[in-house]
Amino acid sequence: MHEHSIAPSILAADLARLGAEVAEVAPVVPSIHVDVMDGHYVPNLSLGHPVLASLRRATDRWLDCHLMITDPATYAPQLVTLGADSVTFHPEVEDDPANLVDRLHEQGAQVGVAIKPAHPLSMVTELLPAVDLLLVMSVEPGFGGQAFLEDTMGKVAEAAAWRSTHRQRFRIQVDGGIAPDTITAAARAGAEVFVAGSSVFGATDRQAAVRTLLERAAMAARGAGTDTGPATTGPASTRPASTGGA
Ligand code: DX5
Ligand code: ZN
Repeated sequence: MHEHSIAPSILAADLARLGAEVAEVAPVVPSIHVDVMDGHYVPNLSLGHPVLASLRRATDRWLDCHLMITDPATYAPQLVTLGADSVTFHPEVEDDPANLVDRLHEQGAQVGVAIKPAHPLSMVTELLPAVDLLLVMSVEPGFGGQAFLEDTMGKVAEAAAWRSTHRQRFRIQVDGGIAPDTITAAARAGAEVFVAGSSVFGATDRQAAVRTLLERAAMAARGAGTDTGPATTGPASTRPASTGGA
């Protein structure tokens, strides 16, 4: 399977000292998750182009942009130009999402598609052969610090099985409410990339928080987690490791 990794979400960082915050987690993570919100797709504003450009100068980590905006076709290519390594968008707001995936690939970026808790996997299966990443939201998009919606993990397991059946290689990312007690369900379901905002940047020792999350995910994937329930060793565990970042 793809290697497990944690993608700290800077939404929970102290944005007045963003460079230092990212430098603190950089030694233990391959990627940084950047949530872009426009106040239309979600009822919140976050950050955009200037912050992404500054981050690009501040870190060599993979910049994983998650666009919660209504016009990804306009802004996603611009963010890639500014240094985003991967861009994930919610395809239901885009008339021709397949075309946007192609355009972003032509720019050299990796591309993800995201599904909200209420959306079925079938909404994106047509796009999955073309993308590098599937983001399964485990909270309603828009805010950090929300409670993990465990019932979204069925969709993660479904996606992992679909990936195996169709011999695809996209990574599965879970975003929202990831903490030591919830990452186990996500890892068991077959996810490999875990976005974590509050549980990393809210910790005093951020590197220790990342290590704990990774240990818990590894235990769960091996079936040795402390939670109940069988391990999901199926499709994801037989996949080759990826070199991708996000
Ligand atoms: C929510 C964002 C998440 C958020 C996660 O809309 O997409 O990336 O930052 O934050 P936590 O880990 O605090 O739930
Ligand atoms: Zn996100």
